[in-house]
Amino acid sequence: MNEHNINGNRFFNQDCVTGSRTHIEDGSVDLIITDPPYGINGDTLHKHYYRDEGYVIDGYVEVPAEKYSEFSHSWINEAERILKPNGQIYIVSGYTNLYYVLEALRATKLKEINHIIWKYNFGVFTSAKYVSSHYHILYYAKPGKGKKTFNTESRYGLTEQKEDGGSLNYEDREDVWVINREYKPGQVKNKNELPTELLIKMIQYSSNQGDLVCDLFMGGFTTAKVAIGLGRKFVGFEISKSIFEQKITDIESIKPGYLYETLRVPEANTRHNQGKGWDAADVKALLKRYNALRNANCSKKDAIAMLSDEFGRGRWAIERQLKKNHAEIDESQQLKLID
Ligand SMILES: C[S@@+](CC[C@H](N)C(=O)[O-])C[C@H]1O[C@@H](n2cnc3c(N)ncnc32)[C@H](O)[C@@H]1O
Repeated sequence: MNEHNINGNRFFNQDCVTGSRTHIEDGSVDLIITDPPYGINGDTLHKHYYRDEGYVIDGYVEVPAEKYSEFSHSWINEAERILKPNGQIYIVSGYTNLYYVLEALRATKLKEINHIIWKYNFGVFTSAKYVSSHYHILYYAKPGKGKKTFNTESRYGLTEQKEDGGSLNYEDREDVWVINREYKPGQVKNKNELPTELLIKMIQYSSNQGDLVCDLFMGGFTTAKVAIGLGRKFVGFEISKSIFEQKITDIESIKPGYLYETLRVPEANTRHNQGKGWDAADVKALLKRYNALRNANCSKKDAIAMLSDEFGRGRWAIERQLKKNHAEIDESQQLKLID
């Protein structure tokens, strides 16, 4: 076992199950982001996908398909143990063995928050069927008292709108993420390296500065780089000696917080229209958005909360206006779309 402590961040060249049992206390991790091997002969993927492996780091350790269920149970049980109450986990999974990952999650007390689809570019070309270009991201939390961290406005304020009037915040929080893989010509990288943008998104929404982020399958150390770059603490494992030795050297040069200056600053959310009268255009816009949200299966309560933020007014004011204008907020009645 080879261990490095770099500015208080810990990296272990070890199997993550044995390693976390030895080095990570119960209930000590705020957020796990991890991308286990997929059990599809990932160490020989290039043979199937005609990839140029010259630029792919050697030493990827795969899990035999017949061991995938047992493997998933053992590391997911460990993940449950090390998470704090209300701590969260994002697991990136292909679909071949998704069943086993879901089965292992369901055997724990972890609760599903979202099943996210990540759509990427450069899906493997096929001519006689659809091109596969997505992964699953299973977003779960450990039950606990109080609230889990979810920084709703960390990227887009609730009142920020697109040019067509739609909400940027709503769009960013939809559960289909379209994020491209990074094209790094000439650079050596891990198989399945996750894009920085994807990691930034998970870390911004689900953790705060100083929180402890863990990756049980580090690969190219991308989770580590982004977590440290966003001022979080990090602990992680990689079983492959050659991958570990090649990638640990990158970490020395990562400056804590270096990614802050790249982040978009969301607009502050204020009740800027509180006390102001409603004109016909305001009412029309309110009814249109309310109906759109309800048609998208948003509950009445959540719709009113969102509209309160979007229109810069209190919730009672929104509800009063909806009632007054006969937008049907009674579940039993039909929604009337006003355009
Ligand atoms: C899909 S890759 C991770 C890629 C990573 N997310 C990135 O962005 O580069 C999975 C990694 O887990 C490693 N691995 C396999 N079994 C492991 C185990 N039991 N403990 C720790 N690492 C393991 C593999 O060698 C591989 O590098």
